[in-house]
Amino acid sequence: MKILFYVGASLFYLLGAFPTWADAAKGEEIFNSMQEGDCKSCHRVDGGRLVGPGLANVTQRHSKEWILEFLKDPQSTWKSEHPETIELKKRVRKTRVPFTACKKNPMTSEQLQDLFDYLSTLEK
Ligand code: HEC
Repeated sequence: MKILFYVGASLFYLLGAFPTWADAAKGEEIFNSMQEGDCKSCHRVDGGRLVGPGLANVTQRHSKEWILEFLKDPQSTWKSEHPETIELKKRVRKTRVPFTACKKNPMTSEQLQDLFDYLSTLEK
């Protein structure tokens, strides 16, 4: 009986974990593809700076809400008085710059979600 329990439990675990892997993999494609996110042109996935900050641990620096909002509309988020935006502006020393250099192609909310899932896998 015990063995059945283990088989059942691991199946449950695998099925539960699968969608997240699949989404993170799609997010990685979007991140690297020049036609889609093209994030790779400006961001490294470790701690190092390129045009923008390295994105390792970015989901620890920011809430999910902020990241999704910023990726949907970087310019409006940049203008907002959100504490996470203020912190970012200070960190990149652009408190007086009225726009962000972070650009992106329009994406569906599913693509944004996949990108977020990929960003959550980036740790140092
Ligand atoms: C043209 C260059 C460029 C592209 C393309 C770009 N970014 Fe950025 N990104 C930046 C810069 C520069 C910043 C820092 C804010 C600033 O200086 O404008 C930034 C900031 C960010 C931040 C906040 C980082 C932090 O440490 O708080 C995230 C998250 C982010 N970008 C994700 C992305 C994703 C995901 C994509 C692809 C969909 C992308 N960026 C595409 C240049 C870019």
